[in-house]
Amino acid sequence: MAILLLLFLLACSVNGDSFIGVNIGTDITNMPSPTEIVALLKAQSIQHVRLYDADRTMLLTLANTGIRVTVSVPNDLLLGIGQSNATAANWVAHNIVAHVPATNITAIAVGSEVLTALPNAAPVLVNALQYIQSALVAANLDQQIKVSTPHSSSVIIDSFPPSQAFFNRTWDHVMVPLLKFLQSTGSYLMLNVYPYYDYMQSDGSIPLDYALFRPLPPNKEAVDANTMLHYTNVFDAVVDAAYFAMSYLNFTNIPVVVTESGWPSKGDSSEPDATTDNANTYNSNLIRHVLNNSGTPKHPRIPVSTYIYELYNEDLRPGPASEKNWGLFDANGAPVYTLHLTGAGTVFANDTTNQTFCVAKGSADSKMLQAALDWACGPGKVDCSPLREGQECHEPDNVVAHATYAFNAYYQQMDKSTGTCDFKGVAFVTTTNPSHGSCVFPGSGGKNGTSSNGTALAPSNTSTTSGCLSQHYYNGGSLISSVILGALLLSAVVL
Ligand SMILES: *[C@@H]1O[C@H](CO)[C@@H](O)[C@H](O)[C@H]1NC(C)=O
Ligand SMILES: *[C@@H]1O[C@H](CO)[C@@H](O)[C@H](O)[C@H]1NC(C)=O
Ligand SMILES: *[C@@H]1O[C@H](CO)[C@@H](O)[C@H](O)[C@H]1NC(C)=O
Ligand SMILES: *[C@@H]1O[C@H](CO)[C@@H](O)[C@H](O)[C@H]1NC(C)=O
Ligand SMILES: *[C@@H]1O[C@H](CO)[C@@H](O)[C@H](O)[C@H]1NC(C)=O
Ligand SMILES: *[C@@H]1O[C@H](CO)[C@@H](O)[C@H](O)[C@H]1NC(C)=O
Ligand SMILES: *[C@@H]1O[C@H](CO)[C@@H](O)[C@H](O)[C@H]1NC(C)=O
Ligand SMILES: *[C@@H]1O[C@H](CO)[C@@H](O)[C@H](O)[C@H]1NC(C)=O
Ligand SMILES: *[C@@H]1O[C@H](CO)[C@@H](O)[C@H](O)[C@H]1NC(C)=O
Ligand SMILES: *[C@@H]1O[C@H](CO)[C@@H](O)[C@H](O)[C@H]1NC(C)=O
Repeated sequence: MAILLLLFLLACSVNGDSFIGVNIGTDITNMPSPTEIVALLKAQSIQHVRLYDADRTMLLTLANTGIRVTVSVPNDLLLGIGQSNATAANWVAHNIVAHVPATNITAIAVGSEVLTALPNAAPVLVNALQYIQSALVAANLDQQIKVSTPHSSSVIIDSFPPSQAFFNRTWDHVMVPLLKFLQSTGSYLMLNVYPYYDYMQSDGSIPLDYALFRPLPPNKEAVDANTMLHYTNVFDAVVDAAYFAMSYLNFTNIPVVVTESGWPSKGDSSEPDATTDNANTYNSNLIRHVLNNSGTPKHPRIPVSTYIYELYNEDLRPGPASEKNWGLFDANGAPVYTLHLTGAGTVFANDTTNQTFCVAKGSADSKMLQAALDWACGPGKVDCSPLREGQECHEPDNVVAHATYAFNAYYQQMDKSTGTCDFKGVAFVTTTNPSHGSCVFPGSGGKNGTSSNGTALAPSNTSTTSGCLSQHYYNGGSLISSVILGALLLSAVVL
């Protein structure tokens, strides 16, 4: 009885209440109306959004929906607000006080990647945060609304191994007072995390699987030699780099909220990995990872809530094709792809599309594929009879297609356990059902790859874990101490 109670307390204090939100960019030719946007958010059960401004109609439309909103001070207002307490107070009166409590504004993102995008405003950045904070204090809203500023992860230098990461020292004179501000107000570090760019810029040193949260064989996991922590994905490594960079400046209890993360579904010829399948894999895995509350290797179980970049494809964004294709939906509200979310723990899609499949790499050496195919159909005990001539999976008759069938059958037969979709590096896991025509792949529930539309984001039920947990988010100082308390309780139980 006592043990059960203690374990419950442990779960309650240590388990996070991390959430998934969505960014709403507006560089769109036929921008949906606020009414249409909110209808989409409700249909998809999206409970947290970030706006890049504080659009009045949008905030009015979000009123009484229960949706939590992070609003932003756009960069072009930053200099004015950072130089004048009165301007800041005026901004807060018009854009915040006028909307709460009907609209549940929970945070203000002051500027966007200011140190890297608008360095001439850096000298007034902390002033801007402080002025806005004092206006919130004056309106008695500072407990429910947190003030911070989103950073590009490029302000962190040497982010692998994470234990050696530090903030670009050019900005220490801004970062130190900023972190003091975040700590003293119980706010959090806002960080934009883009494994897509880390991968693109790594010249091959970061494997795609590692960026996409695909399972890696244990011998391929990245290990931080200083801490012996194992990293199975780039996202965790970047978030831990931020924790280490903060602790390098002696700040050890500021939580991280990822204000942007995602993957583009389309790119130009120089962006071959901006594909629908990769975008789906990244975002589906990211959502599962965040909602699983497993935290990062450095801070297990400390929530890292994350806003997906982004709700809509933004056709007016300048730059390479990928810039226009980060969205989960097109401007009509049609999903660009259907996320695969079942199996996310407390959050379940009702679309039963949590299948994953193991497929052969088209680029792999055909002798290696043949050897792996022979192994799967022999010692691997896969039933390869559908591949025989005249059988349903014989066509297309090539080694990639046949290896894909056999690899997947093996992977499903092994209950998709980690390391069973590797085949010496010639296979990878995908969420796209490779079944075709009458060739139905194991694990596809009898459906062939042509079906499936439906919701992009799952309706969610987080009621089981909320309540006792949410306050950690808004009270950064207590996070670490709850974990320590939890650990003490655990050792009390074990001993
Ligand atoms: C607003 O959001 C916060 C944080 O999620 C939550 O605790 C609070 O209950 C919400 N308020 C309303 C009125 O829904
Ligand atoms: C700034 O304005 C707030 C009200 O918004 C006020 O409480 C505070 O004292 C002002 N600070 C300064 C330095 O004038
Ligand atoms: C640090 O920031 C400065 C100013 O933006 C920049 O010039 C420099 O290249 C950065 N250092 C590194 C290593 O990125
Ligand atoms: C961090 O704390 C240590 C020990 O108190 C001190 O030696 C060091 O100078 C501090 N570093 C910074 C950046 O304040
Ligand atoms: C979820 O968390 C548990 C324990 O923290 C971990 O063992 C498991 O691998 C995680 N699952 C995913 C999908 O991250
Ligand atoms: C989805 O995942 C859950 C949990 O891993 C599993 O119980 C369920 O059978 C899966 N559904 C399908 C259709 O594969
Ligand atoms: C998912 O659930 C919603 C509401 O319960 C329902 O309207 C919809 O048809 C379901 N979708 C599928 C694919 O079953
Ligand atoms: C697979 O899809 C095609 C096209 O929709 C359909 O004609 C075929 O009957 C399906 N096969 C199975 C086994 O469901
Ligand atoms: C799938 O999409 C088609 C065409 O958009 C639509 O007619 C059909 O109702 C959709 N099915 C489901 C289950 O949503
Ligand atoms: C979600 O929560 C509601 C209310 O708490 C409950 O009625 C419903 O059965 C839950 N749905 C699932 C799928 O757990």
